Amino acid sequence: MENYTITVLGCGVMGTAVTSAILNSQFQPYPSKIICCNSNEKSSQALRSKLSHEIIEYSYGEQNKEAVKKADIIILGCKPFMYKDVYNEVKDSLNKDQLLISLLAGITIEELSIFTPNVAKVMTNTPAQFGCGMATVAFSPEAEGKYEDLVMKLINPVGKAIKIPEKNMDAATALVGSAPAFCLLMMEAMIDGGVRMGIPFEVAKQCAAKVMEGTGKMAVETNEHPAVLKSKVCTPGGTTIGGLLKLEDSGVRGSIARAIEEAANISKSFSKK
Ligand SMILES: NC(=O)c1ccc[n+]([C@@H]2O[C@H](COP(=O)([O-])OP(=O)(O)OC[C@H]3O[C@@H](n4cnc5c(N)ncnc54)[C@H](OP(=O)(O)O)[C@@H]3O)[C@@H](O)[C@H]2O)c1
Repeated sequence: MENYTITVLGCGVMGTAVTSAILNSQFQPYPSKIICCNSNEKSSQALRSKLSHEIIEYSYGEQNKEAVKKADIIILGCKPFMYKDVYNEVKDSLNKDQLLISLLAGITIEELSIFTPNVAKVMTNTPAQFGCGMATVAFSPEAEGKYEDLVMKLINPVGKAIKIPEKNMDAATALVGSAPAFCLLMMEAMIDGGVRMGIPFEVAKQCAAKVMEGTGKMAVETNEHPAVLKSKVCTPGGTTIGGLLKLEDSGVRGSIARAIEEAANISKSFSKK
């Protein structure tokens, strides 16, 4: 595909994150135009101050029909429950050759096929705004052969993109989409502990955030099992093993794993409604 137009149908938090990542990267073939769509003028105006580039155009309300007509690729970024209403608004502008890249939690490839048979379902997360996000991608059979390379080039700039089977997408919604909030809860708790023991909040916040960032990087760089890395930090009779046993006493490991399970089940319940 050359000289193609992307229409971001729903350019809120995630639509903006993916668009910014594309704008901050260089790959070929690069889109010649990106049209960012909102439902109303106020949010379209607000978007102009957040996202501006020579290849960007803005659209809202009725204009979105024309924006979708011009699209070779539609990135769908509305809330999951809105997708049928959004489809009904733009259905007369769709054609079967367009590719739909959905950012929506839950809604299945089969359900999204009302737009076009060429569907890529993506689950990404808010760190994508800073180019350090994660994304999982599943394809409809029609899109897999024709568009896999292009979709991976478009989504990889959010940080890292991995192709997975659609059956794992609800679990990925939990592990990729929701887990930043779980990490933030852990970060908050670590800050509380630091403050309790006398460290000023700002210092505790910087320490906790950097520890999480660095630990993630260490796990990626070494490719070691987390248990191996963890055991290397545990001096016999030392501080770390003492703290870890407190966490195990309170069932933190099971709670975190069950949080992923719960979020995955909720994602599953979003489809077929
Ligand atoms: N936020 C996360 O952490 C996260 C993580 C992973 C996945 N997701 C998925 O990403 C999707 C978007 O979430 P979000 O947090 O980015 O939501 P959001 O910030 O509320 O963005 C939704 C966007 O859709 C637009 N929109 C609403 N109705 C529309 C219509 N009829 N036509 C065109 N555009 C319309 C809104 O425009 P107006 O503002 O003008 O109404 C807004 O720009 C969701 O489906 C969610 O499952 C989110």
